[in-house]
Amino acid sequence: MPMDAAYIDRMKRLMEWEATRTAPPDGFPHLPDMPAGRYTSQEYYDLEQQYLWKKTWLFAAHIDEVPEPGCFMKWENIGDPIIIVHGMDGEIRAFYNTCRHRGAPVVTEEKGKAPRLMCGYHNWTYKTDGSLVGVPEKQDFGPDFDMSCRSLIPVRCEQLGNLIFINFDADAMPLKDWLGPVWEEWEEFRFDKVRLAARHSFDLQCNWKVAIEANMEVYHVPFIHPDTVAPLVDSKRNVNTIYPNGHARMLAPPPKQTDREHVRAVDSPPEWQQIESVGEFGRTCTQSYTMFPNWVSPLSNYFVPPLIFWPTSLNTTKLELVTMALDWGDGPAPDLWTVPDETKPGGRDMSPIILEDTQFGEMIQKSMESDGFKSVPLSYQEARIYSFHQSCDKIIGLNRVPEELAVEQVIGEEWVWPNDPRVAQMEQMEAAE
Ligand code: FES
Ligand SMILES: [Fe+2]
Repeated sequence: MPMDAAYIDRMKRLMEWEATRTAPPDGFPHLPDMPAGRYTSQEYYDLEQQYLWKKTWLFAAHIDEVPEPGCFMKWENIGDPIIIVHGMDGEIRAFYNTCRHRGAPVVTEEKGKAPRLMCGYHNWTYKTDGSLVGVPEKQDFGPDFDMSCRSLIPVRCEQLGNLIFINFDADAMPLKDWLGPVWEEWEEFRFDKVRLAARHSFDLQCNWKVAIEANMEVYHVPFIHPDTVAPLVDSKRNVNTIYPNGHARMLAPPPKQTDREHVRAVDSPPEWQQIESVGEFGRTCTQSYTMFPNWVSPLSNYFVPPLIFWPTSLNTTKLELVTMALDWGDGPAPDLWTVPDETKPGGRDMSPIILEDTQFGEMIQKSMESDGFKSVPLSYQEARIYSFHQSCDKIIGLNRVPEELAVEQVIGEEWVWPNDPRVAQMEQMEAAE
């Protein structure tokens, strides 16, 4: 269903309608100011830590990072020590990297390969499915000691093609249900075929929401990206779609005077294999998805290049810049978001577009922590940000967020996929023409 001809036609008409409307759509709610404390209070940060990050599906790894049975890697992006293990049975699993004896790490290297995982402290040994199979001097634990109750504690782990996601909530809905309509819309991008080409991380001096919000609106495009993004994105003809569970999409055509295929041909060397199944929008428009809570990725016929945002403290963020693409053969692996820079740790720096998007983060955070910052008014164009905040409060639990920190839940289901009151308004306008 997602990208059939009728849908494509309707979205194209919506783009034109967005450019001609002279006010927010009829009935679109006024967005109340968002409280400053959402970015600066330890209280809200602690709620995020306790609930938001523990209840959502999080991108953990690409299968290329644990390619063969026995491969494992450490993963600590939200604090808790986790290991991702490619089991000897072929299954990918995640566990707390916590020995069931006295809590030592079962794995100490960043990455490795072994048919069994052995804790270095007293050599308790686990199979790659987490079961405990070896305890030295076991008889001293007494006759009732039951090894079958001492398996490594699992963390939910599911795949979207080659991508591995984890969820700390044992009762979380399956990843496919979490993504809902997005799961189907992503099929054309061949997540089951793309390889991991680049994964780098950078430290930002701001709250993770300040950082990710630069990727949730196109209002800023003409002003901070005049030479980079603006030639590709007509921000006035952008159409935002809000999906269930906090996900969202922007879809913007190139400005009318730009030939997108021409621009693509210039900035995409021919040796990069195209993803043939990608449809018209992925080839001609800029299409970017937010997967709640911390993944933003434009998707095209060349790359699956997510930006992932991890809080490292109330006012610092780790930004991961990832490029995935179809096999690039013997040539250099594509890296969409970083450039060589010998003066930086790791020899890479963020690309010009990412530097433009992150340039104000530290200064915004400083301002937000001053008395000069009261609250955030958002426009209809920035509604994806507001909707994201509504989803943050919802996943934390509306009863847990103190009133002075909460956003009002004003964007109702009627604006969430598959509902879209804009379509009727557009048809009305077309009929009047
Ligand atoms: S803590 Fe792991 S074997 Fe003792
Ligand atoms: Fe931007």
